[in-house]
Amino acid sequence: MCGIVGFTGRQQAAPILLDGLEKLEYRGYDSAGIAVAQAGGAEPSIEIVKAKGRLKVLREMTDDGRSVSGTCGIGHTRWATHGEPSVVNSHPHYAKNKRVAVVHNGIIENYQEIREKLTKEGFSFVSATDTETVAHLLDKYYTGNPIEAISKVMFRVRGSYALGILFADRPGEIYAVRKDSPLIVGRSEQGNFIASDVPAILKYTRDVCFIPNLEIVKLTAVEIHFYNVDQEEVEETFSEINWDTEAAEKGGFAHFMLKEIYEQPKAVRDTISPRISDGHVDLEELGMSREELAKVSRLQMVACGSAYHVCMTARYMVEQTARVPVDVDLASEFRYRNPVMEKDTLVIVVSQSGETADSLAALREAKKLGYRVLGIVNVVGSSIAREADSVFYTWAGPEISVATTKAYSTQLAAVYLLAIGLGKAKGVIGEAQETQMVEELLRLPEKIERILEEKERIQWFANKFSHSKDIFFIGRGLDYASSLEGSLKLKEISYIHSEAYAAGELKHGTISLIEDGILVVGVATQKGLFEKLISNMVEVKSRGAYVLGVTSYGNYSMEDVANYTIYVPKTMECFAASLVVVPLQLLAYYVALGKGLDVDKPRNLAKSVTVE
Ligand code: AGP
Repeated sequence: MCGIVGFTGRQQAAPILLDGLEKLEYRGYDSAGIAVAQAGGAEPSIEIVKAKGRLKVLREMTDDGRSVSGTCGIGHTRWATHGEPSVVNSHPHYAKNKRVAVVHNGIIENYQEIREKLTKEGFSFVSATDTETVAHLLDKYYTGNPIEAISKVMFRVRGSYALGILFADRPGEIYAVRKDSPLIVGRSEQGNFIASDVPAILKYTRDVCFIPNLEIVKLTAVEIHFYNVDQEEVEETFSEINWDTEAAEKGGFAHFMLKEIYEQPKAVRDTISPRISDGHVDLEELGMSREELAKVSRLQMVACGSAYHVCMTARYMVEQTARVPVDVDLASEFRYRNPVMEKDTLVIVVSQSGETADSLAALREAKKLGYRVLGIVNVVGSSIAREADSVFYTWAGPEISVATTKAYSTQLAAVYLLAIGLGKAKGVIGEAQETQMVEELLRLPEKIERILEEKERIQWFANKFSHSKDIFFIGRGLDYASSLEGSLKLKEISYIHSEAYAAGELKHGTISLIEDGILVVGVATQKGLFEKLISNMVEVKSRGAYVLGVTSYGNYSMEDVANYTIYVPKTMECFAASLVVVPLQLLAYYVALGKGLDVDKPRNLAKSVTVE
């Protein structure tokens, strides 16, 4: 996620902006910039300074902000989504002659369409970003009334946004508006602030208002006004923030992992929605024509860790829906096994960081062998993103916790979209099925939210097993892939030994490990395999296991076998992995919490494994 800070008051703004942006560095970024209103001189203007890389660069360029005069400005740290990390793509973006400057956090889903239209109207673009369209729209609609111009932009754009805006002819005033991306207002004796998150302004004030969705705010050094989208002034209340800085960086959550688990609905929505137009999946960004997609004879998926579990899920899901054969390899194996692959194989490398050494090496191996490579990546401009022939970005935003959660969920969403696109190109998925799948995809975020509302039940259960020595996960089909992910989550943050097994494998050796009181988690969302999984749960229970069932609402016969059952909302079976993984993430989190461990930074692990 990008970081926004704004200040208008009686002190020089630039040093305060840089200070605030520094407090948002934990969110991850690749470039930064500030814009400060210049009220003196013949014509009021806006001074803009931008830099790629760390804030240090911006500090050096502006002598820690001292060289940029003015008491009213906005600042931004950019986490790239549209357009590589670069100075020209960094914020603030501005319209011609810098009449308007804007910083943005979020995703403008219909920016291409707006860009094309504005270009035809004579607007010229310099960046590859979605945000620049907002700057030009504001410039187009601004005829002296900022609230009116902003309101018009709100009706024109689709997607999520938190915007900080300066109008050159209104020095001392900051405007802000939000839809689905966070933005707060802070007030103090020194002046008034906007920020993406509390840490940016805690040093100056704890008196804040979390701007309600679809509201516009006007700040001067001494006043704050709120307006609704109809430009009517409304009253809002302020509250006292009593978090310390560390808690504030986590948005009030105890750990980044829990914060990121809760960000999954938005992350999944941000990944899916921009790829749906008029009810259809639009994979134009892959740069592959329908004919090229139809020619794909096989997918060879390659990844590590949790990303590998996404590939395991993809094998079941893509083969079931698009009838395209899918091979899956650990990157560390693929790169050395001198693979034999069919001519029209599409190699897909899945990686949150886009820097995993084995996955990057596998990509290079596949390209050396002459295969087309698609990267499913979360970090724009990362090595895998740059070296793949085409990239499908997940828009999870920066993921801080070592244990991946929201990035995993957005990778699953990317796989679903790809499966539908492949199935359509091959004529396996027709209009009606596509409509049904797209409608269900768009309902996944709210279903994840429903699961999160029941976290207390999972927390209560987890506390009973925090001191286990071994915990097993079993599943069949898609649920086997989800079991692998549940087991890894548990292992990597709670240090409890855990294994996931294809449930049919139990009788081939594993069942000898089952002893009295051992927790076995049975994952069962696939109708055709449900009874089989139930009988596997009976097998382990009769040998002393304590059985936790994880299944969809409606499968109440689970309670005849399981000692405890966690339900997830019903969905199309091919999407079930997106729901069942949430309780497994929470189980791992609360077990680790119960052991008093450092959930966000587990021992021996790094967020990105850039070495072999
Ligand atoms: C997941 O919780 C782990 N942190 C780890 O397995 C991770 O998925 C793996 O290292 C791959 O990372 P990548 O997605 O950045 O390539």
